Amino acid sequence: MKIIIIGATGKIGSAIVAALAPRHQIIAVSRSTGDYRADITDAESLAKMLADVGLVDAVVVAAGGAAWKPLMELTDADFAFSLGNKLMGQVNLARIAIPLLRDNGSITLTSGIYGREPVPSATAVGLVNSAIEGFARAAALDLPRGLRINVVSPPLVGDLEMAGDKVKRMPSGDLALAYVECVEGTGNGQVIDARPFARL
Ligand SMILES: NC(=O)c1ccc[n+]([C@@H]2O[C@H](COP(=O)([O-])OP(=O)(O)OC[C@H]3O[C@@H](n4cnc5c(N)ncnc54)[C@H](OP(=O)(O)O)[C@@H]3O)[C@@H](O)[C@H]2O)c1
Repeated sequence: MKIIIIGATGKIGSAIVAALAPRHQIIAVSRSTGDYRADITDAESLAKMLADVGLVDAVVVAAGGAAWKPLMELTDADFAFSLGNKLMGQVNLARIAIPLLRDNGSITLTSGIYGREPVPSATAVGLVNSAIEGFARAAALDLPRGLRINVVSPPLVGDLEMAGDKVKRMPSGDLALAYVECVEGTGNGQVIDARPFARL
């Protein structure tokens, strides 16, 4: 498969590249390095990158930011940043990518567990993560030509730490397996909690 990975140089993106590269052609994308440059907050740059790359089988996004602050400190600008960056960046990518995906191709987005399991200061993050998941569940019903869209919901990524029987930080190599499942599997409209992919 020919696969675009946006955020390919990041903590998560680089692990996705490592997991998929042995079997697929990877097009690495970020704002500053990689095979192509694009900024998910700039729809024109996404459209240009996708047009330059041409038809692909899959697009994966592991990029996007949202504001971490207690609710009472979140400003209008913090909400605008969060919605415009991690949420609408990925939504716009999905919308623009549809005609440039081959039949039965896939889109994989990234949310995060604080959408469903919040912690203090995660109001904007949780808002965005939940919205990404709601978008993908509904978008899956509208996609033409056998196209699929799924979301990976990662926990905190890093060296493995255990608390009771819960993985608190997940190694990025294990997390990448959830993205592999989205790209190589058949799921559509799925939100994949990545934690069961941790190889203990
Ligand atoms: N790390 C975690 O523990 C964790 C947990 C849950 C969810 N997540 C989510 O997973 C995603 C990736 O996280 P990460 O920790 O891997 O991030 P990271 O290490 O900071 O890497 C981000 C990657 O995305 C690129 N990027 C950043 N902003 C971009 C933009 N506007 N347009 C295009 N590319 C952009 C970066 O390269 P350039 O700077 O060159 O553009 C880099 O390749 C984020 O959405 C994050 O919220 C992360």
